[in-house]
Amino acid sequence: MTLEDQRLAVAAAFFQRTGQQPEGTWVAPGRVNLIGEHTDYNDGYVLPLAIDRGVMLTAARREDGALRIWSLQENEPALSSIDDLGPGSVKGWAAYVAGVAWAMRVAGARIGGADIVLSGDVPLGAGLASSAALECATALALDDLYGTGMEPEDRALLAHRAENDFVGVPCGVMDQMAATLGRTGHALFLDTRSLAHEHVPFDLAAAGLTLLVIDTRSGHALVEGKYADRRAACESAADELGLAALRDLRSDELEEALATLDDERAGRVRHVVTENGRVLETVDLLRAQRFPDIGPLLTASHASLRKDYAVSSPELDTAVDSALLAGALGARMTGAGFGGSAVALVEVGAAHDVTAAVTAAFAERGFGTPELFPAVASEGAHRIG
Ligand code: GLA
Repeated sequence: MTLEDQRLAVAAAFFQRTGQQPEGTWVAPGRVNLIGEHTDYNDGYVLPLAIDRGVMLTAARREDGALRIWSLQENEPALSSIDDLGPGSVKGWAAYVAGVAWAMRVAGARIGGADIVLSGDVPLGAGLASSAALECATALALDDLYGTGMEPEDRALLAHRAENDFVGVPCGVMDQMAATLGRTGHALFLDTRSLAHEHVPFDLAAAGLTLLVIDTRSGHALVEGKYADRRAACESAADELGLAALRDLRSDELEEALATLDDERAGRVRHVVTENGRVLETVDLLRAQRFPDIGPLLTASHASLRKDYAVSSPELDTAVDSALLAGALGARMTGAGFGGSAVALVEVGAAHDVTAAVTAAFAERGFGTPELFPAVASEGAHRIG
């Protein structure tokens, strides 16, 4: 389906459900993170790219303050009123949408009710930040509809607040920043402390390369609890080391600091500090257009997430190992982990072999069939109609 076909389908669904024409259509992308994993809630560095799959949202204002949210598949809306929103008041996927309306109101934005119909092609729970896509499409749509004139960074921060405080997931800010600020043909180098960012050219095709996403189609029921555990371990280690955040631990101070911590937290800290270093090295290589040379850094990141941070899974390890065996230049899990997706940097000519090898390795181990597709660095949230 082309983007225009999708837009027409969502607009038709909107008319069917509301009897009105929508006032506009907006899209926001999912993301893959090239490198810099579990660093964002440690005030560190990340390097994600927005991808060409995401969420499409069509909407119109309502004068009565009602908020009605449909997905393309559902005939009954999630229903609430803009004045009654509060953490926990909306459940399920619609909470990501309602949460943004809540966060905007709390921040003083003069927004009212809306009818909203959503469709998406970023797989849910695949580690590709579908929730941030939902939030960031909503933030832009409400901002546009009500003319609140927010800056992109502020929209991303409110989307992040919605996820933390309304939905209750203690994520970092990477996904919302990628879904808002992503740029076609570029990766987003972000300092999550200062929010300073740079769009780093990422024209892999010109170098004969592609970044394959490997959606393992495996999730983990306990992801949220384990994510929160990792975050808490980092915060307590930083505290014990007398630091505002692990970002503040220099690599030349690392060994001395590790000696004071228990083994488990030492692993977590080692990962965060070395991962921040790998992001900076990757950015330098990208700036020098030395794309193939980032491969070993990706693979080292995976090893660190697997061993020191302990957030990989048998499916993710199989994806990475089999891609590397089949000739990938580098590979790693991407996103929170415990299932979800991996990325592999491959020469365009080897993409077919890598896809076949990963698929065969999954079949051999009795895992479900993975889905592989190229990550195309795409534009952050924008209006399309
Ligand atoms: C999830 C979170 C992000 C980040 C990653 C791990 O995607 O939403 O904020 O912490 O996990 O890097």
